[in-house]
Amino acid sequence: MAQTWTPNSWRQKPIQQVPDYPDLAALEATEARLAKYPPLVFAGEARRLKSALANVAEGRGFLLQGGDCAESFAEHGADTIRDFFRAFLQMAVVLTFGAQQPVVKVGRIAGQFAKPRSSGVEKQGDVTLPSYRGDIINGIEFTEEARIPNPERQIMAYRQSAATLNLLRAFAMGGYANLDNVHQWMLGFVKDSPQAERYRKLADRISETMDFMKAIGITSENHPSLRETDFFTSHEALLLGYEQALTRVDSTSGDWYATSGHMIWIGDRTRQPDHAHIEYCRGIKNPLGLKCGPSLTADGLLELIDLLNPANEAGRLTLICRFGHDKVAEHLPRLIRAVEREGKKVVWSCDPMHGNTITLNNYKTRPFERILSEVESFFQIHRAEGSHPGGIHIEMTGNDVTECTGGARALSGDDLADRYHTHCDPRLNADQALELAFLLAERMKGGRDEKKMVVNG
Ligand code: PEP
Ligand code: CO
Repeated sequence: MAQTWTPNSWRQKPIQQVPDYPDLAALEATEARLAKYPPLVFAGEARRLKSALANVAEGRGFLLQGGDCAESFAEHGADTIRDFFRAFLQMAVVLTFGAQQPVVKVGRIAGQFAKPRSSGVEKQGDVTLPSYRGDIINGIEFTEEARIPNPERQIMAYRQSAATLNLLRAFAMGGYANLDNVHQWMLGFVKDSPQAERYRKLADRISETMDFMKAIGITSENHPSLRETDFFTSHEALLLGYEQALTRVDSTSGDWYATSGHMIWIGDRTRQPDHAHIEYCRGIKNPLGLKCGPSLTADGLLELIDLLNPANEAGRLTLICRFGHDKVAEHLPRLIRAVEREGKKVVWSCDPMHGNTITLNNYKTRPFERILSEVESFFQIHRAEGSHPGGIHIEMTGNDVTECTGGARALSGDDLADRYHTHCDPRLNADQALELAFLLAERMKGGRDEKKMVVNG
């Protein structure tokens, strides 16, 4: 298999989920333009993320990965980015407190535009059109014109990613993420939610600790880790022409990196070992995610691990498990056992979203209790197998949307119509995301106590 890899060797392989661009010359010209544009992220940053993930793989940390199912051009704005970042930071603080371990923060943002679809066409009444494939490819409006793949959209997605990343870097490094601000991250609409009191109590404890540290001379002025945070970006590497254009050689190491985001992942529909997406991903050095759904066999997984991480490097590969609340007990243990038996180093992450989608009142939705149930099972199974439940991968927003049912405010099927804004899959709103973080924190605390009991005999 060790054939020579190049940034375009994927073009020799069969490929799934590829858009049908009518003007191939225009597509080629766009890719050539993109290939000259500056990288969005640096190789050194991707390496830093990989080493943080290596700690997670070895049981010393937790990965929080989340954001939109699909970013959109229409929702691009400072408030949306800020509200997402705030909700995400709140979750991270809750988890850090629960796990007493570093939380590696990775957004599904600044590049998460291309969507795999179960069907190539969408039918409304007696009209059939090509499916919407994400704003980087075509438009969501149900018209013939909007659904034609347009390469110019890749340039727009690149520019939006650059602007989003610029603001995120400012938030992460420019003082917004300072732990002194832990009270201010509370979003307006979360203030009167059932989560508010729990969060306020936790924020009070952090402030108290900060006051104590200040008294002994440790402040956010003299300790950057109190005022800055590492925040990384990720997306599904689906549109390989775009990815190839942003694939660059790192001058320090001589290795190839995807510079479209720090971490990229391979979707559940495009992980065939001899196909294009695996071929592209095996040659770049970024940390990779691999979506693992019910159809993945243990041998299939081991084959993919060997292709994507032949050196068995910790932090290189995150297995993002998305089975569904009613299937996780059937599928996860056999994969864990195979990986453990072969001594493969991976981060185990739980995506409790993609196996739990149902249709209610004509809306795609996800019942919050099923999301919680899959997370609970994920933790229990890892505890039973003696492996580390290393992370969570969710679709969420900082906006007050009504896309997933349930949660402390008990959103019902009738509420979905109120603020259903997603361009693709239903997301947790900030309230539900925070509720999930508290539940996770409790589970992680439980795990810690169990470990202590074992150590203390
Ligand atoms: C996604 O993460 O939005 C997605 C399409 O996931 P999967 O490949 O697991 O279906
Ligand atoms: Co999705």
